[in-house]
Amino acid sequence: MMDALLRDRYWHLLCHASELAKPGDFLKLRWLDKDVVVASDQGNLVVFDNVCPHRGAKLYAAEHGNGPITCRYHGWSYNAGELHIPCRPKFREDEVALLSLTTLKIDWCGDFLFASPDPAHTLDEQLGDLFDQLAAISMEVHGRHAWNAYTYDCDWKIAVENALDSLHTPFVHKDSLNRLRLSDPVNSYVGMNSVARFEICDAQMLKQLKSTSRLFAGSERFEGYMSIYLFPFTMLTSTFGYSYSLQHFFPSDVPQKANFYSRLLRGSLRQGLPSNALDHFFDSTAKVNETVFEEDNSICREMDFSRYDINDLGRLSVDEEKIEYFRRGLQTVAAKGAATTPQSLPASLRQP
Ligand code: FES
Ligand SMILES: [Fe+2]
Repeated sequence: MMDALLRDRYWHLLCHASELAKPGDFLKLRWLDKDVVVASDQGNLVVFDNVCPHRGAKLYAAEHGNGPITCRYHGWSYNAGELHIPCRPKFREDEVALLSLTTLKIDWCGDFLFASPDPAHTLDEQLGDLFDQLAAISMEVHGRHAWNAYTYDCDWKIAVENALDSLHTPFVHKDSLNRLRLSDPVNSYVGMNSVARFEICDAQMLKQLKSTSRLFAGSERFEGYMSIYLFPFTMLTSTFGYSYSLQHFFPSDVPQKANFYSRLLRGSLRQGLPSNALDHFFDSTAKVNETVFEEDNSICREMDFSRYDINDLGRLSVDEEKIEYFRRGLQTVAAKGAATTPQSLPASLRQP
């Protein structure tokens, strides 16, 4: 119940415009019992449920690629904002005239596309002061380098809490993320969302990262590791802003599973560099990320979900305050529904 409400009444960052640059580009994600597709209809992005309005066949089978919005069953297609029906005179015109794709509402934050089936708030309200920061980040991203999708063997809330938890890094990510030797985070909270900024304390890594700076466009990047949590299902993480890992922890319709997606979005390169100049760099970032996600999945699947309780805040340390904030957000939604204004979340968290 709660999972469907979170899906249906909140905005979700689904993609960056540059991922669907060509007409016909599409990507498909799955949340609970439904698919959600973003497709470029002659350059206009449409977001819909992947269900053919004729008799319900799935329109896209692949997770991403390029291809028309055409049903393989009887050839109905959607193009330039309209449904095209082969042998249309054989149908009852008054019935088919009313049919179309079941689309979601969309809105933009810079070049990031957000969608929601039935949003309780405007995107502005949901993102609050994060809006401008996200819009600025979206301008520093160009294209997708890697796509990963797999099932986490745990409830999505366990996976999100793990992503909000930096306490486990030295234990679970000994030879991957922990090589950066991240500082304690500086956390900030906006509406239901949270942002964590970490310094990179490994001198060698820091030096290497700084020297890479000249290869990228823009100069306003945060020189550290940053993790932005967008309530309810999305994380955006980055080291130095050279690439952004866009992660979704969607609920699954199978209990104690989560549909996990991670895409590596490329930072924009300095002008004059060939577009493939940093492919090795992005390859190795994607590889480290994959290792980190596998390590996370391997610990998340060990969690005993029967003990999980969003009201249980007592055993959380100061270092787990983003988890406390997440649970308080869920408590608010459970008690008052999604119509609660995002600003009304209690701000009474322990100060670090
Ligand atoms: S179900 Fe799609 S065209 Fe018939
Ligand atoms: Fe982790």
